[in-house]
Amino acid sequence: MARIVTSLDIGSAQIKCVVAEEKRDGTLSVLAAVKRPSVGLRRAMLVDVEDATRIFREMAVDLQKISKRATQDVFVNVNGEHIKPRPSRGVVVVSRADQEIQEDDIERALVSSKAIRLTPNYLILHNIAREFIVDDVGDIQNPLGMTGNRLEASTLVIEAFAPQVNLLVKTLERVGMKVGGLIYNPLAAARAVISKKQKDLGALLVDFGFGSTSIAVFEENKVLHAKTLPVGVGHVTNDIAIGLKTSVEAAEKIKLTYGFAIAKEISRRDSVDLAEFDRSNSGEISKRFISEIIEIRLAEILDLVNNELKSVGRYGELPGGAVITGGGVKLGGMAELARKELKLPVQVGFPDLSGFEVLNPAHEELLDDPEFATAVGLILWSQDENHRESGGTGFKKFFRNLMP
Ligand SMILES: Nc1ncnc2c1ncn2[C@@H]1O[C@H](COP(=O)(O)OP(=O)(O)OP(=O)(O)O)[C@@H](O)[C@H]1O
Ligand SMILES: [Mg+2]
Repeated sequence: MARIVTSLDIGSAQIKCVVAEEKRDGTLSVLAAVKRPSVGLRRAMLVDVEDATRIFREMAVDLQKISKRATQDVFVNVNGEHIKPRPSRGVVVVSRADQEIQEDDIERALVSSKAIRLTPNYLILHNIAREFIVDDVGDIQNPLGMTGNRLEASTLVIEAFAPQVNLLVKTLERVGMKVGGLIYNPLAAARAVISKKQKDLGALLVDFGFGSTSIAVFEENKVLHAKTLPVGVGHVTNDIAIGLKTSVEAAEKIKLTYGFAIAKEISRRDSVDLAEFDRSNSGEISKRFISEIIEIRLAEILDLVNNELKSVGRYGELPGGAVITGGGVKLGGMAELARKELKLPVQVGFPDLSGFEVLNPAHEELLDDPEFATAVGLILWSQDENHRESGGTGFKKFFRNLMP
């Protein structure tokens, strides 16, 4: 039977979901693509379980209508400021007498790299291999079949606050969904929008979400750093509401209609009638002023991203450039502002749909959008895992750790 996989990108503003059937030739045929407002989340974290349960239940009912199996293998993103990367190492002695490195030696080295002192009440979300070292010779991607005495795995552990992750899984299970995988948001998004070549050269992923901005830095096809900042484009909306003394709803509409990220490109003479968006309000506001509010906040967020790049010594130094994605990048002038602030080549990340068959034009329209980067990336991530598992070696756990 063909495999059906579902992705659930639980965001602060919207839930994005894709259901796909994996055909024998590896094509992913899209059965559904859904987007709906989310509730119960703040800054990409679950804060109100009752609200979230209600919305997850509605989602589960809809999925059941698409296919009975659509709730049985759900890949979910995990996001939030609590998630932290930390480098680790695991060392083992090669077990075979002829010193040829076998799968189980690699597995043992990776397991041993997990034996670190985690932050109390944290769990390991990912343990990603960065390199293997055989008898002090490093930079080895896959040591299988090499000979040596001592095998060392250098990894990047991504740890997450256990109660938050457990609560998310429990809430999904309560409405009948089976979680097939939990993937850290920027890693999932990167899978859909950054090419292997860029990851090899050195590249940055920035997901501009409503309540958070998450980043991942890649180099030599490995994850170098990842982080979630608890500030997103929803803060831009709040700033507009305060600046114009209008409601948040009106501010969001103003942002979507007239927002632009670079103030100097907007004429001072153009103005907006506030009453158009908020009937209880009136007055002409200059579009330049609105852009100034937007630019200040976005530049601040990009400055925080630069601080993360500085923390790993890669500020302005990633030849593969930055790929910016998430709903926030649909604001006019975003790529230009990001280019200026990050001092990197910047492109807007539309999800890579080359491996997908999308028959319904409405699905295609939804998916061909930076908002869907994480949801598409989760499906691709699940496919990667499935291929490795069915590759005949029973290698799933091991290769999962090798994924960039
Ligand atoms: N055309 C547009 N112009 C400006 N902003 C936009 C546009 N379209 C969407 N947005 C912003 O993007 C937001 C949604 O982005 P997204 O779906 O990536 O957030 P999320 O995944 O729910 O949040 P998070 O990842 O922080 O949990 C909207 O709430 C809106 O503020
Ligand atoms: Mg998001």
